[in-house]
Amino acid sequence: MSSERKVGRRLLWVLIAVVIIIQLIPVDRSHPPARSEIEAPPEVMEILRTACYDCHSYETDWPWYGYVAPVSWWLAHHLEEAREEMNFSDWGLMEPGKQAELREEIWEEVEEGEMPLPSYRRVHPEARLDDRQHRVLENWSHGEVSRVDSDVVYGTAADRVLLMDVHHPEHPKGVGVISVAGSAWRADEAAHAEPLKEQRGYVEAYVEPLVAAGYTVFSLNHRGAPPFPYPAAVEDTQRAVRFVRHHAEQFGVAAEALGAVGFSSGANLVSLLGVNDGRGRADASDPVDRESSKVQCVVGLATPTDLSRLRRDLVGPYLGDEPQPATAVSLEASPVTHVTADDAPTLLVHGERDRTVPSSQSVLFEQRLRESGVEVKLVLLEDQAHPIAPSAGEPSVVEELLEWLDRHLLESPSSA
Ligand code: HEC
Repeated sequence: MSSERKVGRRLLWVLIAVVIIIQLIPVDRSHPPARSEIEAPPEVMEILRTACYDCHSYETDWPWYGYVAPVSWWLAHHLEEAREEMNFSDWGLMEPGKQAELREEIWEEVEEGEMPLPSYRRVHPEARLDDRQHRVLENWSHGEVSRVDSDVVYGTAADRVLLMDVHHPEHPKGVGVISVAGSAWRADEAAHAEPLKEQRGYVEAYVEPLVAAGYTVFSLNHRGAPPFPYPAAVEDTQRAVRFVRHHAEQFGVAAEALGAVGFSSGANLVSLLGVNDGRGRADASDPVDRESSKVQCVVGLATPTDLSRLRRDLVGPYLGDEPQPATAVSLEASPVTHVTADDAPTLLVHGERDRTVPSSQSVLFEQRLRESGVEVKLVLLEDQAHPIAPSAGEPSVVEELLEWLDRHLLESPSSA
């Protein structure tokens, strides 16, 4: 044997020894449990699972060569990088804003052919996405168009199912607003009746602009009088806030910064959400009821704030069999009664020609809030009656409303 061949042999043995020894260096292939997995429609989940999950989740299917060093090192490093960029197993732990950003990036990467990685596509034919899969991913990634999830059950009470419509915006800000239309605290339960949550005039005037601005709006039904007098409607709206807060992650909104907007009796109810302490019951068996029902920002349009001073025919059915308006119940149902320094910042808009709920109701509430050190703004509109046109005023009511919500929910979210 020539000496060159001897050296060659020896090198080969050394190499084999090295390869064997490096197999002993441990590689972390552990799978921590998913802490808050992404939630998406089934057809989207299927794509993510087949084409992305191996790298962007804890559910990695290790190939056989993933057990051979040094390839295993390279793979482990790769995985770490991929999960750091985006981890579907921990998706819910990210800020809603970050989720929205990544969701858009997902389609960009796929469209440009960057993802799944070309090297991965070569060995995984099932990860080569076809046109249909591309469309599904693209629609989802763009937040589709705005959509309404109708009839979401947020609770049950006295044999009634409490429903709300969830309006998802096309470009979500990741912030939720509870919305209650006006009905003089009534709920028409007839089969053909228009549900409160879908009240057309109000939805078009106030829900749709909020959705267009990127807010996720939860439009409520609540129990009404008759047959349900105070406090059924108050309990229902509180339940709705607790429900949204508890499921904030699924709805893609921040739990600690919820707003509330309402008109007339709806404004009375959302104002109470801002002034009542709202603490959940720590011992409640339903975890939803352990949440706080306090909102962080309120907008009241034509708000009844002191029910003892309102027309009897208006508040009578709601206050039950109260003989006198100025009794304990009417005080309890009045936002002005509950004002304290920790109440939510409140914007009040009222028409000075309002004959149903006089604007003095908002003036009084504004005064009480201001005296207690709560941030409050009162906009009085000379030419408006009870219904307030969203375009009234300069700046318009809708502009005022969005400015108020943006400032208090996006810029300085207070804690729940
Ligand atoms: C074989 C592993 C692998 C697969 C499969 C894979 N990715 Fe990635 N991905 C990575 C790695 C590694 C990174 C980080 C480095 C980079 O950007 O190239 C990454 C980064 C990303 C990023 C962030 C890009 C950036 O620049 O911020 C997005 C978004 C992404 N991947 C989307 C996807 C989607 C969607 C799929 C499935 C359709 C997918 N990836 C499948 C490995 C993978």
